Amino acid sequence: MMKQLSNSVSHWRRLVSLSAMALASLPAQLLAADSVSISKNWRFTKGDPAGLTTDLRYDVRPPIEDAGDGKLADARPDAAVKVDDNGAKVLKPWILPSANPFIKDPAKHHVRPAGNPGGDVPYVQAGFDDSGWTPVDLPHDWAIAGPFIKDGPYGGMGRLPSWGIGWYRKTLDIPASAKGQSIFLDVEGAMSYATVWLNGKLVGGWPYGYNSFRLDLTPYAVAGGRNQLAIRLDNPAASARWYPGGGLYRDIYLTTANKVHVGQWGSTIRTPKVSREQATVDLSLTLDNDGDKPAQVEVATALYVLDAHGQRTGRPVASIARQSASIAPGEKAVLNGSAILTNPRLWGPPPTQAPNRYVAVSTVTQGGKTIDTHETRFGVRDVQFDPDKGVIVNGEHIPLRGVNNHHDLGALGAAFNARAAERQLEILRDMGTNAVRMSHNPPAPELLELTDRMGFLVMDEVFDSWEKKKTPHDFHLIFPDWHEADARAMLRRDRNHPSIILWSVGNEVGEQYDGEAGAKIGRELVAIAHEEDPTRPATGAMNFAKADMLLPTTVDVISLNYQGAGIRGIIGQYPAFRAKFPDKMILSTESASALSSRGEYMFPVAGAISGPVRPWSGGNPDTHQVSAYELHASDFGSSPDRVWAADDQNPYVAGEFVWTGFDYLGEPTPYYTSRSSYSGIVDLAGFRKDRFWLYQARWRPDLKFAHILPHWNWPDRVGQITPVHVFSSADEGELFVNGKSQGKIRKRDYEYRFRWDYVVYEPGEVKVVTWKKGQPWATETIHTVGEAAKLSLTADRAAIASDGRDLSFVTLKVLDKDGNVVPAAKQKVDFSIEGPGTIVATDNGDPTDMTAFPSKSRDAFNGRALAIVKAQRPGKIILRARAEGLGETQVEIGAKR
Ligand code: GAL
Repeated sequence: MMKQLSNSVSHWRRLVSLSAMALASLPAQLLAADSVSISKNWRFTKGDPAGLTTDLRYDVRPPIEDAGDGKLADARPDAAVKVDDNGAKVLKPWILPSANPFIKDPAKHHVRPAGNPGGDVPYVQAGFDDSGWTPVDLPHDWAIAGPFIKDGPYGGMGRLPSWGIGWYRKTLDIPASAKGQSIFLDVEGAMSYATVWLNGKLVGGWPYGYNSFRLDLTPYAVAGGRNQLAIRLDNPAASARWYPGGGLYRDIYLTTANKVHVGQWGSTIRTPKVSREQATVDLSLTLDNDGDKPAQVEVATALYVLDAHGQRTGRPVASIARQSASIAPGEKAVLNGSAILTNPRLWGPPPTQAPNRYVAVSTVTQGGKTIDTHETRFGVRDVQFDPDKGVIVNGEHIPLRGVNNHHDLGALGAAFNARAAERQLEILRDMGTNAVRMSHNPPAPELLELTDRMGFLVMDEVFDSWEKKKTPHDFHLIFPDWHEADARAMLRRDRNHPSIILWSVGNEVGEQYDGEAGAKIGRELVAIAHEEDPTRPATGAMNFAKADMLLPTTVDVISLNYQGAGIRGIIGQYPAFRAKFPDKMILSTESASALSSRGEYMFPVAGAISGPVRPWSGGNPDTHQVSAYELHASDFGSSPDRVWAADDQNPYVAGEFVWTGFDYLGEPTPYYTSRSSYSGIVDLAGFRKDRFWLYQARWRPDLKFAHILPHWNWPDRVGQITPVHVFSSADEGELFVNGKSQGKIRKRDYEYRFRWDYVVYEPGEVKVVTWKKGQPWATETIHTVGEAAKLSLTADRAAIASDGRDLSFVTLKVLDKDGNVVPAAKQKVDFSIEGPGTIVATDNGDPTDMTAFPSKSRDAFNGRALAIVKAQRPGKIILRARAEGLGETQVEIGAKR
């Protein structure tokens, strides 16, 4: 049994949001080792200036021969294409040194060449007039406003213009008090190939768009003056199988520190011994001395309880004895200390456990003066990986009820928004989800703060490709130079989060096919994961590698995509892996890939429990919608019913991560002309598809409900067979149509839904009565509803903060005169707003809708639409919606100070 020692969250950055102006007015002592957000007031433009004389490319890229559209996700990745750079003078040699702190072997460190490429480009000059550029606040996604590219390549990337070159500029007023200090730029993520200049000098950059990085601005910065920051991004086309977004899509901080300070991601907390009575807390703090004199420092650390909102409470509950170190100039020192927590409040997933957390506050002093304060958030928990049972958290077996999610937030795009992410997690929690796989890249750090706070178990994943390519310009282009740095960067940034239980070094990589050559890379990446974090296992998701191949021998945990339930006619692989690897836990990193469009039902309904989407069998080739009877999947996937039958026949399997929790932009299998996926259990707008209740019935078996589908408005189907399915955790059910019984059904082994497949449609009432273990369980009734007569608006939150970031998600419903949702309603709705609020975007969850997201007009899709509202100032916001013939309605949202 592999035991995972429990751990922690580090590098908690104060999420103060201050403009450069505010920064300038901060008292100097607050600046020591402080990070301030510089996310406001940037200028942005697309494209390079005319008449460039310097080659600003990171590197020469191979030609794109195949957009990849429509290629099935399980297609075999190809070898990289060799390119001849013809001696081009590209920027790569100046960017590579940014990776040095994450390259273990000093002999492999990159040496920066002489020169200052790009220094002559007008956009990096302080004197350049950028007043004609677009003013933007970060996080910013340059592509999400569209318009959608209806015809053209890269449909897999969401039909939005994410690729191309973009420039961002900002002036930084760095106060005189920062003289003699270290000054860093901390970027949480830039999509992609970021190159940074300060005051006309090339600082460095970071190609991988999903990783966070720090650049040292000290040699180029002017303390006590204006500084011109310029960032160029160069997002390749054909770089992804999904929508990557484009731009400075996460937050950026300016960090000012004493020359002697806690290094980047420089604290690690582990809790090697955990019981209900006591826990050992080991803190390792790495201090950097960037100065030119030796430094004698002392560190003292106090441990506090964090409340449910992540606020420090009360007095310290423990402390780590004062330690001292002397650090030579230009060197690092690692200080290790321990404390004992008695009766620790353990971190664990709800509903049976609570996500309790602590914070370690370390104070670094030199000659009695505080020179740095560093907070490390952490949780105390014990996680074990039992090959016979699965994941055990604090002694309790927790079946993984997980989902995969990509990083986009629907109509908000890739631009990270904490409230939008929290809303997704709330909806998933309601379904009974307890785990999330960050597919297939490091997430925004704030998302991990949310999973810590809310108690989700997380699989953190670094790559979707290694040396072999899935698309012509994906990560494989830079894998040889960057894989070590990118892997270590993610591991160091994320290793203190209690929510993370498992690292993934790759997803369905082409090297699965390669025997020893592929296994060698697997071993190297797993070794890196173990070095950076010996407390957690490392895995990689495999859709091809079989039990007798080499790749599975390199990972600690066996992670199968689709193979467990059976893939493309190959029988389920769980027993084969179990036999071959009796000591390794097995889980399904991707299950289902079931497809559907919310509220679209197609006839005839398949009799089988699972099948691929084909014209008129699950899929409508005219409308490009997929049936919501929830019986169809991608060609290599399975309906949830088929997945669970396999899981239940192999009870040692630790659980699943469904592909996917939410619909996402791009990868619109099976209709590549669409904008977004069909695989979400929840649609792109955040509305529940029928599948939601299928999962809820399995994942929250104590919840009493019965969900009936389809709706009962079929004027063209009178007298025709119209199957009725019911999702419930009950074991027996009887269906009535207009009072006539359609029969009583008892679920048999490995059946997960009630289906009355021979119901003949007549308008009226459909009622289901259910029982569980002989006792009445839940009753549900639906009926034929009237014509659309009016609209309603409901805000998920009636009061929001007026910080320009907090959001209210407002649901519009098309109703009949009695207030019932009209199931197929598709009326055009016009939204308008009054007061200190803005409509950020609208949506409806229809994968085929090519109306740009900022549009205030939106067709309802099967009775619903969504408007997302933010507030700039305190006051009363009124959101209105009107539609022809349906009048107007409004909702009030309070914007708080
Ligand atoms: C998997 C892949 C995912 C996604 C999914 C679509 O093979 O790992 O990234 O493409 O298929 O069904």
